[in-house]
Amino acid sequence: MFTVQRVKARQILDSRGNPTVEVDLALSSGAFGRAAVPSGASVGSREAIELRDDNKNIYAGKGVLGAVKNVNTVIAARILNKNFAEQKVFDAALIDLDGTETKELLGANAILAVSIAFAKAAASQMNINLFQLISQKRYPVRMPTPMLNLINGGAHADNPIDIQEFMIVPKADNISSSLEIAAAVFHNLKSTLKKMGHSTNVGDEGGFAPNLRSTELVLDILSESILKSGLTLGENVEIALDIAATELFKGSFYHLKGEKTKLNSAEFALYHKKLIDTYQICSIEDPMAENDLEGWKIVTDLIGNKVQLVGDDIFVTNKSILEQGIKKGLANALLVKMNQVGTLTETLQAVDLAYQNGYETIVSHRSGETEDTTIAHLAVGIGSKYIKAGSICRTDRVCKYNELLRVSESLC
Ligand code: PGA
Ligand code: ZN
Repeated sequence: MFTVQRVKARQILDSRGNPTVEVDLALSSGAFGRAAVPSGASVGSREAIELRDDNKNIYAGKGVLGAVKNVNTVIAARILNKNFAEQKVFDAALIDLDGTETKELLGANAILAVSIAFAKAAASQMNINLFQLISQKRYPVRMPTPMLNLINGGAHADNPIDIQEFMIVPKADNISSSLEIAAAVFHNLKSTLKKMGHSTNVGDEGGFAPNLRSTELVLDILSESILKSGLTLGENVEIALDIAATELFKGSFYHLKGEKTKLNSAEFALYHKKLIDTYQICSIEDPMAENDLEGWKIVTDLIGNKVQLVGDDIFVTNKSILEQGIKKGLANALLVKMNQVGTLTETLQAVDLAYQNGYETIVSHRSGETEDTTIAHLAVGIGSKYIKAGSICRTDRVCKYNELLRVSESLC
């Protein structure tokens, strides 16, 4: 039994200098948990609502003091000195207290921070790791392969690159070797860009954000850096993309501004096919927009048997939305972002459905992050095939990979 003795929320800053919610929660046993929630830039329209203050005088309207207050008053009144048998029961109380589909009353940011803080405190009371609490022996605990975002475009960078994320996926048998491969490519990519006279400044997720227009040129430079690192594309490392296509879709067309062209869904699916045939691309996330289900069907039928097609905006880690997509035969993998749905329990429900239907999972950070490393434990705890936590620089990204290194010690 877990009895909540103390809960306190505060407003802290995320990696983009915007406010976010952090919660401290203590149990009567003395066990303690602290959690901070992330925030996205390319947000799916059906994500749970992140509550922000409407006060233009505080952080340009981005304050979260209302969400903080909700934790310290309404949520505190519901959970303080109450006994909860397990996470499911605790999260059900939060979901019930909010009472809305989208968590708009109390804010998904308020609710998720409390949900995760409780999970951490519960794990501590049980004297187990957070990943073990998440696994509950329902999932085989396993170390995920990192997908490292080395070039940032789209909504994450101030450059003309249309595609949001260019990731590398090391093919190594442990996390430590994967990170070593990633570091080699990262440094070679930096010197290649420098030599070509391009900027080596980084975007929101720590990847380089050069002023390039052509997707193929970006992929050529990335491939060259892999080669320079003494690695073979396809053998030692593969490439993954997040198109974040919802951001490109307007009036039935995908507008590729960098390449000065627009494509309809069928043409865009062929565009993806050409990319995967030319480069060793193992995974494409959001190849079509969240409301272009026809396009999703076309691309899944065309290349779904060759490549991982990951649903982010289209599924928003929501079990019932995922269910509709599965029925229509869209995508073959689920991106898992806890703040899209707002509690740990609901996240695991979406994961369960994905696994039951043979969909892989990729646990993901958001472009606005904190030093919280919960996603490392989530990925291990659900036995996720992949984790994407950004590049190999900037502590808000690297802290997740570093936590995986620590976790790997207890998996040996
Ligand atoms: P976001 O981007 O956190 O800005 O939504 C990450 C992603 O699209 O996967
Ligand atoms: Zn995405």
